[in-house]
Amino acid sequence: MKQVYLNGTFLPADEAKVSVFDRGFLLGDGVYEVIPVYNGHCFQLTGHLARLEQSLAGVRMNNPLSQAAWQKMIEALVDKNGGGDQSIYLQVTRGVAPRDHVFPVGVTPTAFAMSNPLVAVPEKYKIEGIAAITLPDIRWQNCDIKAITLLPNSMLRQQAQDQGAQEAILIRDGHLTEGAVSNVFIVKQGHIFTSPKTTEVLPGITRELVIELAAQADMPCVEQEVSETALRSADEIWVTSSTKEILPVTILDDVPVGIGKPGAVWQQMNALYQHYKQNVAAG
Ligand code: PDD
Repeated sequence: MKQVYLNGTFLPADEAKVSVFDRGFLLGDGVYEVIPVYNGHCFQLTGHLARLEQSLAGVRMNNPLSQAAWQKMIEALVDKNGGGDQSIYLQVTRGVAPRDHVFPVGVTPTAFAMSNPLVAVPEKYKIEGIAAITLPDIRWQNCDIKAITLLPNSMLRQQAQDQGAQEAILIRDGHLTEGAVSNVFIVKQGHIFTSPKTTEVLPGITRELVIELAAQADMPCVEQEVSETALRSADEIWVTSSTKEILPVTILDDVPVGIGKPGAVWQQMNALYQHYKQNVAAG
């Protein structure tokens, strides 16, 4: 039986219970992280824990565990679930309190973690690329906080699914923000661009790594606003996330992107990323 972590204890998944008065359940009042694990080794754990800290601060919640305690707990959870490749999900909610919009005082946060299978990225996506559609970014103005309140993202991702696409790329005031479940990069004449870190986008851990790898390899990469026009005339479009890595978008709104195949810059970046990942997996 799969083991989960709940408020200081490891227990079988079907024994883990949370009160119906938990603010996560009633108000979506919580934050989360998704951390890939390769061959028993957590990928970019420090970055994920730092972002969790920022998300908690952003919603005025205390971190129930120190960074060291999170790390120890996550490593134990990975072991208890058999090592190998996993996807670790962490969630912290404000805790159990009578329903009220105002934050309760003196309440203990609910801390939960589970291991899910890490579904390998289909080879087809890397050979052919994926299809995406553009949609208006209907989300709130604090998208830098990784909040569990994902109904808008879920609706956008579902619209993409309904249209046979794998991701929705979001447009706000004439510029690109990010994907429903990913960050977005474009390539134009060999230069890589991605939206800057503002409250309109999640500071993605994969995004950060791509920027670092580009710098190390002397690949020009700029964090600046990308107009919808620039998006539509891009030579390449990529979407990045912890579970999907870096995926080339080869069809946007039914129109081929660039040559309609994964581009040369993506090939180079994906090779750098896979090499980095293999080093992590090797410990
Ligand atoms: N989501 N932007 C949004 C809106 C996301 O939901 C995600 C990832 C990202 C990429 O962030 P990172 O590189 O840190 O995974 C950007 C996760 C995987 C999820 O909700 O399951």
